[in-house]
Amino acid sequence: MSFTEQHKKLERNITMLGVFAFVAVAIGGAVEIAPLFWIDNTIEKVDGMRPYTPLEQAGRDIYVREGCYVCHSQMIRPFRDEVERYGHYSLAAESMYDHPFQWGSKRTGPDLARVGGRYSDEWHVQHLHDPRSVVPESVMPTYAFLSETPLKTDDAAAKLTALRRTGVPYSDADIEKAELDMKAQGDPFADAGDLEQRYPKAQIRDYDGNPARLSEMDALVAYLQMLGTLVDVNNAAAQEELAQEQGR
Ligand code: HEC
Repeated sequence: MSFTEQHKKLERNITMLGVFAFVAVAIGGAVEIAPLFWIDNTIEKVDGMRPYTPLEQAGRDIYVREGCYVCHSQMIRPFRDEVERYGHYSLAAESMYDHPFQWGSKRTGPDLARVGGRYSDEWHVQHLHDPRSVVPESVMPTYAFLSETPLKTDDAAAKLTALRRTGVPYSDADIEKAELDMKAQGDPFADAGDLEQRYPKAQIRDYDGNPARLSEMDALVAYLQMLGTLVDVNNAAAQEELAQEQGR
């Protein structure tokens, strides 16, 4: 029996066609689905990456609450125009502790993945109070109320606990000290304890220009100022490429 005849038989037998179609689809499905179970292994670890401090995480939650992601992405694609404008393309590990991630594809405003350290705290506060006062053609809304809104700190430990359940490696000490850490990072006069040991490169200072009060503005600016600052990207990308070459 030739191949054409065999195929003709298969096509005309609904049961057999069903069984073979199922097998074909199952193979395709397994190939796509199986790697997801080992997804942890597909993210190269890079030096410097750490979970967010409680203050940064609070700022991140405000960022999500206010819908900043509607206009801003946080993923620099590996294209020349993007790299020249925003800096080194984003590495997978840089968003490994993000829940939810903020990659996005809608850019009414610029990508923010590496905005940390690019402007002063004063610039950010001024810009969030009134974007038009620093960038006259801006269409960004104003967020002045953040300076007047005290930051909620009593849920710091609960937030970190929830994140730990999704796989973010916060230690027991991190969770125990969460509320203290949150207050200490925004207050240059407070005793920050071992905050900097547990969270390397944490920036401890007053962010909103009012050291007397910890506001939502403090948290949001703390978050913006750390974006893209943890990993020495050029070094990490070189290591990643080397590891891939050695793996071959
Ligand atoms: C309606 C769209 C829109 C929303 C919502 C929005 N932005 Fe913007 N954003 C812009 C535009 C447009 C610019 C560029 C002009 C400017 O600097 O104001 C910008 C610029 C910025 C910049 C300066 C980036 C750079 O590299 O110069 C930062 C930081 C920023 N936005 C943060 C935020 C934060 C934080 C939020 C949420 C609280 C937010 N934006 C919400 C549109 C938006």
